[in-house]
Amino acid sequence: MAIKEKLKEFSIWFNKHLKNQLKVGIPQKLFDAMHYSLNAGGKRIRPFLMFESAKICGKNNTDIFLDIAIAIEMIHTYSLIHDDLPSMDNDDLRRGKPTCHKVFGEAIAILAGDGLLTHAFEKISSVNLDPEKIVKIINILAKNTGIYGMVAGQAGDILAEKEGSFQDIKFIHENKTTKFIQACCEIGAVLADANEEKRQALRTYGYNIGMAFQIWDDVLDVIGDTEKLGKTVGKDINQNKLTYPSIYGLKQSKEIAKSHIEKAIESISIFKENETLVELAKFIIQREV
Ligand code: IPE
Ligand code: IPE
Ligand code: MG
Ligand code: MG
Ligand code: MG
Repeated sequence: MAIKEKLKEFSIWFNKHLKNQLKVGIPQKLFDAMHYSLNAGGKRIRPFLMFESAKICGKNNTDIFLDIAIAIEMIHTYSLIHDDLPSMDNDDLRRGKPTCHKVFGEAIAILAGDGLLTHAFEKISSVNLDPEKIVKIINILAKNTGIYGMVAGQAGDILAEKEGSFQDIKFIHENKTTKFIQACCEIGAVLADANEEKRQALRTYGYNIGMAFQIWDDVLDVIGDTEKLGKTVGKDINQNKLTYPSIYGLKQSKEIAKSHIEKAIESISIFKENETLVELAKFIIQREV
C-alpha cells in the first residue's frame, strides 16, 4: 500500500477513536471548541509516527498505545490553536475550516488550547503501563514541547527579525517543530523497549524528518494551494516571517529539506523492514498538504 493510503487508513481508524475523547460536564463552549479543532481533520502524522516507530522496533500494541497517540494529537492541536491566535500568526483558516478563535472567540480558543495540553498529560498519566515508562514518556513530551522545545521555538518565531541569521532559523525550526516530531519517534521506541542503538536511530530519523517537515511547510506557504493546504498561503511573507525560503530562497530550501530526508532514510537502515518509515520520509517533501 502506498504511504498516502496507509496514512489515510490510519487517519480513519484514529479519527474514530478521537471523536469521543472528551467528556461532557464542562462549559459547553469549551467542549465544543476542543472538539471542533481536534476533529477538524489533519494528517495525523505525529501519532502515525509513534505507532510506526514502535512497530519497527517490534511492538504493535494498538490498545495501550492509542491513548498516548491521542494525547500526542491533543498537544499538537493545542499548538495549532495557539499558533493561529491573533497575537501569534493571526490565521483565519486551519485544516480547511475557520480557526478556533474565529468560531469560538479568542478567550475560549486560548482555554481550549490550555485544556487540550493539560488533558493530554492527564491522559498519559492514567495509562495502564509500567509507571517508570509513563514517567519517561511524560518527560520526553514535556521537555520537547515545553520551554526547551516547542514553546522556545514559537517564542523565537514571534521574536525573530526578518534579517535573522542561519542560526536563528535553525533554532526556530529545531524547537518549534522538530523536537516534537522527534519525541513521537522516541516514544514509539520507548513503548517497544527498544535498545539504545534503535532509539538513537529513531531520534536521528525524527530530527531529520522534523527539520524537513517544517522547511517543507515553509515551502508550501510559498508554492502551495490554499484550498489543498487548508490554510492561507503567503502568510509568512505577509507577516515578514523568518523562514527557510526567506533566508535561502526556494531552490536551496528544497535541497536542504532533501538532504535531511536522505539522512533520515540512512539512519533507519539498521532496521530490516523499514519501508513505511522510508516512504513516509520521502512523502514529507512531496506532499501538497
Ligand atoms: C502544522 O502541522 C504545524 C507545523 C508544525 C508545520 P501539520 O502539517 O502536521 O498539521 P495537520 O495536523 O496536518 O493539520
Ligand atoms: C508553527 O509553524 C508550528 C507550531 C508549533 C504550531 P507555522 O506557524 O509555520 O505552522 P502553520 O503554517 O501555521 O501550520
Ligand atoms: Mg507560527
Ligand atoms: Mg502558523
Ligand atoms: Mg507554516
